[in-house]
Amino acid sequence: MSVSPVDTHQIRKAVVPAAGLGTRFLPATKAMPKEMLPVVDKPAIQYVVEEAVEAGLTDLLMVTGRSKRSIEDHFDRAYELEEALRMKNDTQRLHAVRETSALANVHYVRQGEPRGLGHAVLCAEPHVGAEPFAVLLSDDLIGGDLLNEDATLLKRMIQVRQERGGSVIALMEVPPEQVSLYGCAAIDGTETADVVTVTDLVEKPAPDEAPSRWAVIGRYVCDPAVFDVLRDTAPGRGGEIQLTDALRELAQREPSEGGPVYGVLFRGRRFDTGNKIDYLRTVIEYAVDRPDLGPELLPWLREFVRQRG
Ligand code: UTP
Repeated sequence: MSVSPVDTHQIRKAVVPAAGLGTRFLPATKAMPKEMLPVVDKPAIQYVVEEAVEAGLTDLLMVTGRSKRSIEDHFDRAYELEEALRMKNDTQRLHAVRETSALANVHYVRQGEPRGLGHAVLCAEPHVGAEPFAVLLSDDLIGGDLLNEDATLLKRMIQVRQERGGSVIALMEVPPEQVSLYGCAAIDGTETADVVTVTDLVEKPAPDEAPSRWAVIGRYVCDPAVFDVLRDTAPGRGGEIQLTDALRELAQREPSEGGPVYGVLFRGRRFDTGNKIDYLRTVIEYAVDRPDLGPELLPWLREFVRQRG
């Protein structure tokens, strides 16, 4: 069955929540947001900004909390540093420093208190208005390899929203013992292999209560109706206003009321930089994949493992 386009409204805006406390990474995150932790030589949040820009989203809103300065500084010009590099004729580093301020139109809004991801998204409403928009969690780094190899995950999600309307979440299959770490979706298949309809969502379920092994990962395309729902969403798990709870409500709704919710099944690589062990794995994988570092790092890593193993 062919699906006719129901939404030609171009998605231009991306919201990047970065106001969480990052308690799993203390003490590093005491005075620095976890989004600024370096993955090789770029902060995690820069990869996410680059991904949004690559998907055609040029208007970015960061939702920041305490210690937001380093994020703002990172995406701003750094005149003294640029001048010092220019004096040294270090054009390569000068380019790297300048690049971050030229990537996109970056705006900021402050979340006064970390009342949950749903609340962080609600803080974006005055900037986003009545348009559909993307949400990218900056501690989730997304690699390639999709069922649909023609598009990155985010591009595919935007495409699905434009074809079908509603909201779109990204789902990744995880082992049963890991479902309790994620939001988890009950799904029905559609005529398209990588697209499902989401019939229910449960935040961090016990393994025997999980509706499936399809876990919600940190990319969303939201219908603006999510704001109205979030306003009425009571604090859920952990006393926080959960985005999952608002999407659960939208999943039950008709298209005329901001529903439904679709899922794009992602089978590529995803890196969670929000906890220590996954962060270390991420840094190693990214470094090994880098042509300027991998050839030197990999033999060292092999030798290290041989000696310690
Ligand atoms: P997490 O669930 O990873 O929570 O947030 P956290 O507080 O950042 O980290 P831990 O669990 O204490 O270690 C997922 C995303 O939502 C943002 C975070 O910055 C992260 O990008 N977030 C979370 C907010 O912006 N505001 C909040 O109130 C909560």
